[in-house]
Amino acid sequence: MGDRGLLSRAEALRLEPPTWCHACHALLYAPCSGRLFGRVPLRFVLLMQLRFDGRLGFPGGIVDLRDGSLEAGLLRELREELGPGATGLEVGPEEHAGARPGSSHEPRPGQRLVAHLYVKQLQPEQLRDIEEGAARAPEHGLEVLGLVRVPLHTLRDGSGLPEFLQQRFVGSARDQLLDALHRLNLVPGHELERALSLARRSPN
Ligand code: GTP
Ligand code: MN
Ligand code: MN
Ligand code: MN
Ligand code: MN
Ligand code: MN
Repeated sequence: MGDRGLLSRAEALRLEPPTWCHACHALLYAPCSGRLFGRVPLRFVLLMQLRFDGRLGFPGGIVDLRDGSLEAGLLRELREELGPGATGLEVGPEEHAGARPGSSHEPRPGQRLVAHLYVKQLQPEQLRDIEEGAARAPEHGLEVLGLVRVPLHTLRDGSGLPEFLQQRFVGSARDQLLDALHRLNLVPGHELERALSLARRSPN
């Protein structure tokens, strides 16, 4: 589902500056035992953020060669955008979940962006620490306007995930989200198909 053209970490690293600019973002999630209205199982908490441009995306950002590695750059961005809760976070090459080259966005004239996504499962307490620390992040109120939990449920009236999918997303963030929901089975296949068809149908 939507993962055509996904590059591995090694393949993506062959796309070199100055032509290519690398951005690394992270999908952080944790299991969740809560129920909405005491009835609808939530199953997972998954974080995205509202950005300065009004769009939704994942925490992370542009990785500089001076960062030393993709993962070091990602961790720097996560500390800037998530704050103290991300201090103890570790992200390694094994969490790389694919890279998307050549999205239309041009950070600088003539440059093309390759967007890496890392996926990391956390303990519920770790994720809660990140949420609690987010307002103390250096970029809080600047690049980042707030963390949001993604609704993974679809209610009878089609609200929940289908409505969320009609928000505006930055770059390929929506495809990254859908791929991850599918591949990690955070939303069962039939439910995801249903959410997608409802998202296509309902007016904005
Ligand atoms: P600056 O310090 O202002 O450069 O921001 P940043 O380093 O945090 O970069 P940002 O997170 O904005 O990501 C860089 C570019 O990647 C953006 O201009 C978007 O086009 C794109 N982008 C941002 N977030 C996402 C995301 O979650 N997924 C994808 N695929 N692309 C994203
Ligand atoms: Mn209420
Ligand atoms: Mn940033
Ligand atoms: Mn960013
Ligand atoms: Mn940056
Ligand atoms: Mn910045």
